[in-house]
Amino acid sequence: MTTMTWMTHSEEDTKQFGEKLGGLLQAGDVLTLEGDLGAGKTTFTKGLAKGLGVKRTVNSPTFTIIKEYMGRLPFYHMDVYRLEDSDEDLGFEEFFNGEGVTVVEWSQFIEDYLPEERLELTIEYVDETSRKISVAARSPHFEQVCKEMSS
Ligand SMILES: Nc1ncnc2c1ncn2[C@@H]1O[C@H](COP(=O)(O)OP(=O)(O)OP(=O)(O)O)[C@@H](O)[C@H]1O
Ligand SMILES: [Mg+2]
Repeated sequence: MTTMTWMTHSEEDTKQFGEKLGGLLQAGDVLTLEGDLGAGKTTFTKGLAKGLGVKRTVNSPTFTIIKEYMGRLPFYHMDVYRLEDSDEDLGFEEFFNGEGVTVVEWSQFIEDYLPEERLELTIEYVDETSRKISVAARSPHFEQVCKEMSS
């Protein structure tokens, strides 16, 4: 398993990181996002959506848990924060096994449903404007994506 870390020094920086990553994704990709409240998960996701060619504004799906967008691929944005302490299955597999790209904020709350082949991202607060993004590639495809991110 390849692991890498990046530092970003502004909100815009994190969006650009997401945008570059979004350009490298393919149908069926699943990305998980861990990190405290306000770490930058949604900020990253906005950039990722842009990199996938999504034109609509991406907002936190707090009340819906899953929001769908269309770019060069379908894009599914999940925020499962409210599923902490519940083992409710909202049909996640249909999204994970579908033809789109899925990003899951607070993925640790649905650990049992996550596919093995995934890109795991953890965003940590460093200071007011800096974040550390740690990435673990859990498939050969994502190892390749990581390589391209660092080149
Ligand atoms: N380098 C950075 N990268 C990302 N966000 C940053 C950075 N520096 C400052 N910020 C600020 O941190 C906040 C991140 O908020 P965001 O909604 O993306 O977090 P989140 O992890 O999705 O939180 P939640 O768990 O509530 O969904 C924003 O206010 C953003 O402006
Ligand atoms: Mg969020």
